[in-house]
Amino acid sequence: MAKTLVLYYSATNTTKKVAERVAQKLNADIGAVQAAQPYTAADLNWHDPQSRTSVEQHQHNSRVAVKTDLPDISDYDNIVIGHPIWWGIPPRLISSLIDHLNLNGKNLALFATSGGSNYDRSQSYVERAIKQNGYNTHVNTGAVLNSDNQVDTWLSTLNFN
Ligand SMILES: Cc1cc2nc3c(=O)[nH]c(=O)nc-3n(C[C@H](O)[C@H](O)[C@H](O)COP(=O)(O)O)c2cc1C
Repeated sequence: MAKTLVLYYSATNTTKKVAERVAQKLNADIGAVQAAQPYTAADLNWHDPQSRTSVEQHQHNSRVAVKTDLPDISDYDNIVIGHPIWWGIPPRLISSLIDHLNLNGKNLALFATSGGSNYDRSQSYVERAIKQNGYNTHVNTGAVLNSDNQVDTWLSTLNFN
């Protein structure tokens, strides 16, 4: 039977709750991803143009280090990555996560939670990171999942084994 792993980054637990639901529905294993340097509440203040997230998210193509105690994904066929949307795109640590996971041959799907932004820009961002790494990865169409209905609808679109 195909094996699925859900990995998520969540600063304030919204994505965590959705990731748990996704994992349960997919009968998947689940793991949290952390930033090498954790984000404080002040770091997350989008009203402050000098806050850590405001600066990082506006730096084109930048990388933010992910904590590298990542699970071994070699046994998994399907990888799901969940994250919040920050300034229209995934937190920069998601590209570092993609750099560190060997996604060759995997079936990949991403979702986010957000205050209203859709997944379009995040999808381009993720596809660029996959391309930069030269991975041969099937990337499903990602979605923002802010409700249980959206979770169920999205799961039914996934091309998982
Ligand atoms: C720094 C920062 C930037 C954000 N930028 C956006 C945004 O551009 N669009 C949006 O819809 N929501 C934005 N949000 C809201 C988050 O995407 C939303 O609250 C998300 O569910 C948080 O997930 P988490 O609790 O798993 O961290 C932002 C939140 C933060 C902290």
